[in-house]
Amino acid sequence: MAWAGTAYPGMQAIGQTIPLETRSTALVLQADDKKNLQILYYGEKLADAAGYAQVPQAYRQTAEYTGVLASAYTPAGSRNLAEPAIAVTHADGNTSLDLRYVTHTKQEVAPQVALYTVTLQDPVYPFTAKLFYKVYTQEDVIEQWSEISHQEKGPVVLNKFASANLHLKASEFWLTQYHGDWAKEMQPETSRITHGIKTLDSKLGTRANLFQPSVFMVYPGKPATEEEGTVLYGAMEWSGNFRIDLELDYQDNLRIVAGMNNFASAYTLKPRETFATPAFVFLLSHHGKGEASRKLHTWARNYKLLDGHGTRLTLLNNWEATYFDFNEQKLFGLLKDTRRLGVDLFLLDDGWFANKYPRNGDTAGLGDWGVNRTKLPNGISSLVKEAANNDVKFGIWIEPEMVNPKSELYEKHPEWVIRQPAREEHYFRNQLVLDLSNPAVQQFVFQVVDNLFTENPSLAYIKWDCNAVIFNAYSAHLKHQQSHLYIEYVRGLYHVLAKIRQKYPKVPMMLCSGGGGRVDYAALQYFTEFWPSDNTDPLERIFMQWEYSHFYPAMATSNHVTAWGKQSLKFKVDVAMMGKLGFDIVVGELKEQELTFCQEALRHYNDLKQVIWQGDLYRLADPHQGSFASLVYVDATRATGVMFNYLVNNRYGEGSPLPVKLRGLDPAARYTVREINLLPGTTSPVNPDAVYTGDFLMKVGINPQLTTDRASVVLQFSKVTP
Ligand code: DGJ
Repeated sequence: MAWAGTAYPGMQAIGQTIPLETRSTALVLQADDKKNLQILYYGEKLADAAGYAQVPQAYRQTAEYTGVLASAYTPAGSRNLAEPAIAVTHADGNTSLDLRYVTHTKQEVAPQVALYTVTLQDPVYPFTAKLFYKVYTQEDVIEQWSEISHQEKGPVVLNKFASANLHLKASEFWLTQYHGDWAKEMQPETSRITHGIKTLDSKLGTRANLFQPSVFMVYPGKPATEEEGTVLYGAMEWSGNFRIDLELDYQDNLRIVAGMNNFASAYTLKPRETFATPAFVFLLSHHGKGEASRKLHTWARNYKLLDGHGTRLTLLNNWEATYFDFNEQKLFGLLKDTRRLGVDLFLLDDGWFANKYPRNGDTAGLGDWGVNRTKLPNGISSLVKEAANNDVKFGIWIEPEMVNPKSELYEKHPEWVIRQPAREEHYFRNQLVLDLSNPAVQQFVFQVVDNLFTENPSLAYIKWDCNAVIFNAYSAHLKHQQSHLYIEYVRGLYHVLAKIRQKYPKVPMMLCSGGGGRVDYAALQYFTEFWPSDNTDPLERIFMQWEYSHFYPAMATSNHVTAWGKQSLKFKVDVAMMGKLGFDIVVGELKEQELTFCQEALRHYNDLKQVIWQGDLYRLADPHQGSFASLVYVDATRATGVMFNYLVNNRYGEGSPLPVKLRGLDPAARYTVREINLLPGTTSPVNPDAVYTGDFLMKVGINPQLTTDRASVVLQFSKVTP
């Protein structure tokens, strides 16, 4: 037997569809005659919204036995046979859930931003799920989350509690996912999705994305290219354990269920309490990955990333220059170097604190935030003063969520530490995680930051590190509700960050995590930038930054020039300039020419940073597919572009035999092309006097003239004013 489309025996549409339309797409919900809320359509927006109701008739797929296979929020335990979005144990022990449409509202919450709320209720139990869809019209972005509540006689246990549940139709589906480890973050893998369930998840607790981030792409049809094809970008806005199920069901449709991970996290919800899930953010582009990422960047800068239209500070970090081995005099020298180099800020890294167990290595002192009197007898304030004397700003490193067992904090408050009381401790970088589900610990962490600012009002930057995952998950504070720990930890963290931002709304803070592994759009509401990886080898960074650039704008991506990698200093600076530029080098060891080069590059960067931070990114040549990488940022008026080109293969004769076609320029405008970031004494083969039309540059292209001797080339495009 076969029924048409998503229909099942007895199904009739009640006629009312809920089209969540953006500029180019539509996610259309519909309650059927039995008030099951279905996803009718997710695809290109139709010119006539009446057409959405006709969509099911166009499909001749196999039988739908349940009535909930295309559910907008699949409940477990009644008719469902697929991966649920929500599973509960009611107060009376019953495990069945059914959710039917009750009502929906639409609210304009900002210009071009609408919030749809759809209320679903169980017909048998006083149990409600509200689905929220925040629709950003211009950017084609949708955020989805839910609120779960009930009025049963006792607590209900939530066994699964997804944020979003999507349903896509196509002849085949492909997935790009990421995996990684320390210094190997954001490694892409693309594969065809086969029947069954593919789960992307994390159970790490804190730096949840280390092995697998929650960002992914799904291609309904063939894998999209930069310019062509359909692609869905998805990401969880959650800094803890997540779970994304991609289920190719027996009808060959793709169901995506995304949310916090329910692993070891059954949540007991009391009557009349509300359980809010974090948001899952997604967008669909029908013009390739380039358009998808430009839209996501715009959305991020407009609505999510802290200070998305503000400025960022270039900096000199002392981590690789000194590690733990420094004192006041040495730092005074580095402050002078900061000025000499020409960056905005000096960032003092790990090692400035703890006395009983001094922080002279990573085995002791973490948690004891008193300044180390041997290294810094005059405290932080003397460094802040000296920074001002050198006309640079001062920033500082902290890792306030973690503790070394060898610390006064651990001795004083073992009950603040996440650890199994009766089991052997197991460490990640010699440390344990503090229990942020505990309000006393939240206050402690807030105080670490607040004290620094209170004592040093001109403190201009914080690097917030996080080097441990959660082992032996147990909270002394949560007592009989251990399964709440992973969730309450992250909520506690957000509580602290929100409090910090209430008091210090815009001080730039870097989200760092012993390398990468902790970036998502919930955290970026509190942070101005993130640290992609400790691996700053520029060759590796070309690939890593390429992948991060799909999801995060350049202004949020901290790139430092360090001793990692065998490439020239120029190559390193050029690669770091593709985002938020910093240095972590011994300035005193630079040759005069190298210092001059860095100073000049910083001047170029300051001239062009607005284009890099706010401009549209076009990835032009994929380093995974050829011998070089090429990308360009173009400002909104299309007057200026900055193009970065890097050879990623140094075999004999490698280079750029063909021109690279630009994107995003004004075809009717005329441009000059000038090579910048040249090493002192070198000249460029690129003629700065030649004038090209935008049309020419986009149809024929420009050749960066990469060779093994010119492995890194930065070109500036400037519109010629008539
Ligand atoms: C890990 C970070 O990624 C590094 O940049 C540095 O801050 C160290 N932690 C300090 O311990």
